[in-house]
Amino acid sequence: MADSFDFTVIGSGPGGYVAAIRAAQLGMKVAVVEKWATHGGTCLNIGCIPSKALLHASELFEEAGHGFAGLGIEVGTPKLNLPAMMKHKDDTVTANVTGIDYLFKKNKITALRGTGSIAGPGKVTVTPKNGEPQTISSRHIVIATGSVSANLPGIEIDEKRVVTSTGALGLDKVPERLLVIGAGVIGLELGSVWARLGAKVTVVEYLDRILPGMDSEVARQFQRILQKQGFDFRLGTKVTGIEEGENGKLVARLEPAAGGDFLLLETDVALVAIGRKPYTEGLGLDAAGVALDERGRVRVDAHYKTSVEGIYAIGDVIAGPMLAHKAEDEGIAVAELVAGQAGHVNYGAIPSVVYTNPEIAAIGRTEDELKAEGIEYKVGKFPFTANGRAKAMQATQGFVKILADVTTDRVLGAHIVAKNAGEMIHEIGVLMEFGGAAEDLARTTHAHPTLSEAVREAALMCGDGAIHI
Ligand code: FAD
Ligand code: NAI
Repeated sequence: MADSFDFTVIGSGPGGYVAAIRAAQLGMKVAVVEKWATHGGTCLNIGCIPSKALLHASELFEEAGHGFAGLGIEVGTPKLNLPAMMKHKDDTVTANVTGIDYLFKKNKITALRGTGSIAGPGKVTVTPKNGEPQTISSRHIVIATGSVSANLPGIEIDEKRVVTSTGALGLDKVPERLLVIGAGVIGLELGSVWARLGAKVTVVEYLDRILPGMDSEVARQFQRILQKQGFDFRLGTKVTGIEEGENGKLVARLEPAAGGDFLLLETDVALVAIGRKPYTEGLGLDAAGVALDERGRVRVDAHYKTSVEGIYAIGDVIAGPMLAHKAEDEGIAVAELVAGQAGHVNYGAIPSVVYTNPEIAAIGRTEDELKAEGIEYKVGKFPFTANGRAKAMQATQGFVKILADVTTDRVLGAHIVAKNAGEMIHEIGVLMEFGGAAEDLARTTHAHPTLSEAVREAALMCGDGAIHI
């Protein structure tokens, strides 16, 4: 036996690395097993971080072309240097993943490189790409192996022309036409990147709406905003095949979701963004007796315990929203629970953000959910056209919508479409953590002039009415 640990995490994404750091802070001897060359998982290497680097750069490119003139800044036609933009993305990733190495060293965490598998109770085998497998022992084992892109049957991904998000983060030229399959978060974020850089983007979505799960009023308004940005949406439609055409272009076969005549659509690149699935390959869960649910996710109880004593699971590989901060919070909770503390995640107050322009941010219940659950609610809504700072920034698209219980005034959910919505949502998160009411928000002084004043005004709309509308 090479070594023994108190707490071993398999996978170093936001769930795994955060669990490891918290466990080390709590005095445990910790190991992390990672099969990739760098730490940080999907989020840091091929997800949140590179996508936000490209979203930021492409947004500025777009603004320089179309937004600066209205502010009296004449820069001429901006020229795209795609390799330099990609270098910015790669440098951002490197800075973040090396940051994790530093944090592991600082917290005296042992980093083991290789594929981890459960070798029996309290045992993990680490198999490096080249080299001998080693087996370590560990009192607690946390599975944090994340997720991978879901595939469409019959469509082969080459990550060059038929890509997942990974390929879409590294295209070597701007495609003339980009076909996005799936109007979810990845499709709209990465579709935005390439639309801003010059691609004609068509989004094919199976359902009759974009962003399923988000508040449907938000989705409808946002669809109109994206259409103004040049997006073409084909809703209620599925892609049933992609072939190479005679002219070397790709030809996708589109069919109405409800059945009917197909049509062919030519494209240069197709992005498959139809969701992600939990990743458990190579872990030996079957042999170890770790149960999965009907969707292939590791089954856990409220304390992240799997069906096997001493083995836990967190992050994208278990049920719940596939979000980095959800994985991180579960990482903290599981380490604290193992240490005998009261680790806990409030699943009712997890924000989610779509980093488009404008951004969409949401927390708590949607209006659709409240209706379905028969909960009586009131709506406070405030548009950014009535916000002074938004006017000064030429960022008047969007609104804040607050949903509060009709009798108690307690805030049940909030939805923001705005530039910087992702930063603005957190005051509502804090309020919800404390079980606060719309009136609490409305009576809190907000600095002027800020976009956040629209949050307060929306809260006022749940009561006697806003001041500025
Ligand atoms: P992961 O980050 O997937 O990490 C799992 C790790 O486990 C990987 O490093 C993998 O190599 C390793 N691993 C797997 N099996 C083994 C094994 N047997 N042995 C050793 N190592 C193993 N979320 C947000 O909240 N905000 C965003 O802006 C955002 N943007 C995204 C953009 C894109 C393009 C994508 C694809 C995802 C995005 N996400 C975002 C989702 C986010 O990346 C995930 O929710 C998050 O990474 C999940 O963390 P995790 O720790 O559960 O797993
Ligand atoms: P998603 O679940 O957000 O969206 C997938 C979309 O594809 C849905 O609208 C679905 O109806 C549609 N779809 C499914 N099958 C289809 C088919 N055959 N044809 C056409 N449409 C089809 O999944 P996405 O965008 O792939 O993202 C995966 C996960 O990554 C998300 O769950 C999200 O949580 C996470 N993520 C989060 C980000 C953020 O927080 N900003 C950014 C990117 C990803």
